[in-house]
Amino acid sequence: MSDWRVPGFTSTGSKRPDALFGAALPDEDAGLPTRMERAAGCRVWDTQGREYVDYVMALGAVALGYGHPEVNRAAGRAIAAGVAGPLPPVLEEALADELAMRIPWLEQMRFLKTGAEAVAAAVRLARVATGRERVLGCGYHGWLDWSQGGEGVPAATRALYAELPFNDVEATRRLIRETGDRLAVVVIEPVVVVEPTREWLEVLRQETTRVGAVLVFDEIKTAFRLAIGGAAERYGVRPDLAVLGKAIANGFPLAVVGGRADLMAGVARTWISSTLATESVALAAAQATVEVFAHEDVCGHLHRMGTRLLHGLHRLHHKHADVVTGVGGIAEMCFLHFASENISRDVARGCAARGLLFKRTAYNFVSLAHDEETVDKTLDILEDVLGAIR
Ligand SMILES: Cc1ncc(COP(=O)(O)O)c(C=O)c1O
Repeated sequence: MSDWRVPGFTSTGSKRPDALFGAALPDEDAGLPTRMERAAGCRVWDTQGREYVDYVMALGAVALGYGHPEVNRAAGRAIAAGVAGPLPPVLEEALADELAMRIPWLEQMRFLKTGAEAVAAAVRLARVATGRERVLGCGYHGWLDWSQGGEGVPAATRALYAELPFNDVEATRRLIRETGDRLAVVVIEPVVVVEPTREWLEVLRQETTRVGAVLVFDEIKTAFRLAIGGAAERYGVRPDLAVLGKAIANGFPLAVVGGRADLMAGVARTWISSTLATESVALAAAQATVEVFAHEDVCGHLHRMGTRLLHGLHRLHHKHADVVTGVGGIAEMCFLHFASENISRDVARGCAARGLLFKRTAYNFVSLAHDEETVDKTLDILEDVLGAIR
């Protein structure tokens, strides 16, 4: 047995010391932060009381900054009102209404707790609507069986899933046509390291319609970040179903599966339900988050700060081309490509030692709490760390 009651050190894989710093074990003696005490705005304090400027931002689940006062106030009111009860809360339909007003292709929606659950629900609804089983997917869609390979996943389940290559127009057209009338659904992440091309999005839309399959946009990372309505809003392509999560409740656990009413009607023919899907704290947090997004041009701020960061990363790439081999992502979610795993590890550790949590892989996220000065200081620290590695 390992030294921890939580095997693997933590229940969220991307927060492991290995994932963040390439450290097999948590190592506070080496100055690495391992567990946090608290967070506020874009800052985090670890168990040793050290302060960090953060770009992990709860893996993209926080876009307004940690502990945003309006979100906290709304959550506090929901706590005082009892959290959960025997009847669906008024908040459920009210939030659905507000989301449908701002994201018109969400004609109807259901709430769940995790992104993985919500994407699985979209796939289930597509199978119900089409009476078919095959799935083509592109990107990461959570840990559940339908999209995963490896140990513990039944081969028969895995056999129903195939990968669609991102931005590859020819392969996408071919795979959708080949799967044809066995294809229930195409699920894509609309941004995977680079932006989608217009042509790829159009082929996805046309070819799924042509074979009668459902097109799902997994907007877990992109909704409430690229735009309130995510990539579909930014690039002007309508999916049949969309899945939202992460930033939608600014760190409180909530996900949404929604879209065409005729597809959502499938909930009457299958079973999609969870005891705490209707607890009201996360619903209240999401309602407050929507309000802040609507009134403060949050996406404009994320784009401006992200662009400042991205331009700086490109400058660092040119200046330190021996250690930095490229820049990945877009303004709102970006990272550096490094010449080796060891270099990426040393950079992440060097940054942490200087009070910066900067991911060495996809993605770093800015928030409403990141300002120009913070981004400029971040770039200075990165410059310093890269110079020292050279
Ligand atoms: C695009 C995408 N889909 C689905 C998921 C799974 O969401 P969750 O971890 O909330 O289950 C993630 C999580 O990172 C994601 O980025």
